[in-house]
Amino acid sequence: MNQLKNLIGVEKIESMFAEDIEYFYPRKEAGKKKPKRKLRIEHLYWIPSLIYSRTYSILPRILKDIFFCLSIIHKSPSSKLFARTRYDELRTLIDIKISALALKRVRANTLDNVKETFSSGSYTTNLLNLSELDTLINDVINYANPSHAGARPYFKDGKNKKIEGSFSAYYTFSKKDIKKINLIISKGLDEDFNYHLSALAGYKCTLKDISYSLSIVYGENSNSEMHQDTYASVAKGFIYLQDVYDGNSPFEYLEGSYLDATYRSNQTNKAVLNNDLHSSGSTRLRGQELQEAVKKYKLKTFTGSKGLFVLANTAGYHRKGAHNSDKPRIILACGVKRKGVFSKLIINLLQVIKFKET
Ligand SMILES: [Fe+2]
Repeated sequence: MNQLKNLIGVEKIESMFAEDIEYFYPRKEAGKKKPKRKLRIEHLYWIPSLIYSRTYSILPRILKDIFFCLSIIHKSPSSKLFARTRYDELRTLIDIKISALALKRVRANTLDNVKETFSSGSYTTNLLNLSELDTLINDVINYANPSHAGARPYFKDGKNKKIEGSFSAYYTFSKKDIKKINLIISKGLDEDFNYHLSALAGYKCTLKDISYSLSIVYGENSNSEMHQDTYASVAKGFIYLQDVYDGNSPFEYLEGSYLDATYRSNQTNKAVLNNDLHSSGSTRLRGQELQEAVKKYKLKTFTGSKGLFVLANTAGYHRKGAHNSDKPRIILACGVKRKGVFSKLIINLLQVIKFKET
């Protein structure tokens, strides 16, 4: 039975949403110039990643496939030449092997549970102290400007047809507030949480590495299509701030699909060979293929009371479930940094060495 009281901040958003949805659209402050951001030393760290992504964008397709083979930004083969081979399957298998090294440092008494998280692709727990988040939720919609965060108001089927009534707004919390959220959440977590998080991310990470945004979603959007985010493991989380039931956009996941490198890469290659550019980045399953996938893997629908915290490896197939409620779905969406295969390998090997020494 749900013991938690409704969050005041969430109820306020629900009623504001019913009264005037405009409030939640990005604010363009007329006549105001963007304040100049002071150059800080940490901004210099962006330079290598800027050069990296810029180089990637200008390279010819085949060179992208060669030089960025194990990079996290190279979501699918760029050239048809490589899409006709086992290139994507092999790099997916390498990612699975390297991500599995994150299990090496898990304590023996919890290893079976964490292995289950790794192979199923998801983990859930319940948070009981949500009310402590109320002020932070209230604040973020005032200080942050919302973005769609990839949840577009059309399906990525190449038709670009606008979905009526589709709405999504993601408000990113400030660094200071992220620290506060992590402190609040840490009180309600099991001591094995970091093991499960690392198993899903594919490298050693902790709650402190998670960042959050407040997500307000109504109707269907591009995330309603069953898709994988990329070829390599990625950990994302969803903290329900309302009771979420079938029909109020529950998170849905095809259990075990992350480990099926052959299936996932076949779908990706097919999309590349069919010039399905909207799908080949984050491969999508539609029609007959979707029906077969749901028979092949167990479709898990994460319904539950407010406080349910779902973590998932979104390299496995997942989607936002159907929305036919009159209220928006409001959650904390969260995740850790995506890492490429080399970074994961270095982090995991260092952890294995450290673990053996202790
Ligand atoms: Fe996704």
